[in-house]
Amino acid sequence: HSIEGGNFKWSAPSNIALVKYWGKKDNQIPANPSVSFTLNNCKTITKLAFAKKEKQDVFSFDLLFEGKPKEDFKPKIQKFLERIEIYLPFLKDYHFTIDTENTFPHSSGIASSASGMAAIAMNFMSLEKALNPSMTEEHFYQKASFLARLGSGSACRSVKGSVVVWGNQDNIKGSSDLFGVEFPNAIHESFNNFQDTILLVDKGEKQVSSTVGHDLMHNHPYAERRFVQAHENLDKLIAIFESGDLEEFIKVVESEALTLHAMMMTSMPYFILMKPNTLQIINAIWKFRNETKIPVCFTLDAGANVHVLYPENVSAAVLQFIKDELVGFCQNGQYICDEIGNGASSI
Ligand code: PMV
Repeated sequence: HSIEGGNFKWSAPSNIALVKYWGKKDNQIPANPSVSFTLNNCKTITKLAFAKKEKQDVFSFDLLFEGKPKEDFKPKIQKFLERIEIYLPFLKDYHFTIDTENTFPHSSGIASSASGMAAIAMNFMSLEKALNPSMTEEHFYQKASFLARLGSGSACRSVKGSVVVWGNQDNIKGSSDLFGVEFPNAIHESFNNFQDTILLVDKGEKQVSSTVGHDLMHNHPYAERRFVQAHENLDKLIAIFESGDLEEFIKVVESEALTLHAMMMTSMPYFILMKPNTLQIINAIWKFRNETKIPVCFTLDAGANVHVLYPENVSAAVLQFIKDELVGFCQNGQYICDEIGNGASSI
C-alpha cells in the first residue's frame, strides 16, 4: 500500500423507511426487505484523516465529535472495523482520525446511526478506491452500501439514490440482502421533492436500542406473518410509485408505522415507544386529512417522533397546519423540515 496519508470528507443523509426493517438474521441480513426515502437536510458530515503507521497489529483510531474527543462511540467503531476488516484489508496499516458532526441537533431523538455509519463507510471506500484506482463507480457505491450495512442495517439505504430498497424482493431488479439499491423503475412525479417534516416529540435517549429491538423479533408470535406482510407492502409500493396513487401510498405507509410499533407492543419484553403526544399528532393528522382531503400522512421510527410526509404542492397548507396545530405537541416546539434527497456526497 503506497499511500502514506491524507484525508477524505463525506456527508451522508439520514433516511426514513416506508416499509420498515425490523428483525434480522446473522451478519446483518434483514428478515424482510425495506424501502426508504433518502433525506436531504438531516446529515452526518465525517472527515477521515489517515496516516501510515509502523506496526500493523491493532486498529488505531481517534474519534472526534464536533472537533472534541468522543470516547463513548469507540467500542461501536472498533466492532465495525473488526466486521469490515476482511473486506478492507488495509485497515490496520493506518492510524485514523474520524471527526464527525451532524446537521441536526444531537439528542433530538433522531437516530444518527444510518447517516453516521454511511458517512464512515464512504470515507473508507474513498481510501479503498485510492489504493485500487481501477474500481468502477458502480462497485464503489455497492461496496460502500455493503460496508454501511455492517455498521447499522438501515445505513445501507443512505448511500445512493432517493428511493432505496434493501433486501431481496423477486420483482425488484438487483435487490439484495447485502446492500441497498436505488429503486430501479421510473417513479411518478407525485413523489418529486416529497416533504418530510420531523416533529420532535421526545428527544430523550432511546428506550430500546435497535439491536435489542431486532432481537425481539426472534421467537415473536407474529414475526413470520409480519415478514410476509413486508413483501406484500413493498409489492403495493411498486405499483404506487408507478401510478402516483397517494391514497394507497398513505394506507401502506401509515399501516407500516403502526405495525412496527405493534411488533414492539407484542414482543416479550414489550414496549410502548409512542408518547401521548405521538397519538395526539396522529389523530390531528387524520382529522386534518379528512376535512381537507390533502394527502398528508405520518410514519414513525422506533421512537416517539413523528415524520409528516406530503407532496411539495401542498406544502403551504401542511406547514400552516403544523404550526397551528402540531407544534404544541413537540418538545420545546421543535421540528425539522426535510425532503427527499440523493444520498451521500464527497466534500
Ligand atoms: O438500522 P437499525 O438497526 O438502527 O434499524 C432501524 C430500524 C427502523 O428505523 C425502525 C426501521 C428502518 O427500516 O429504518
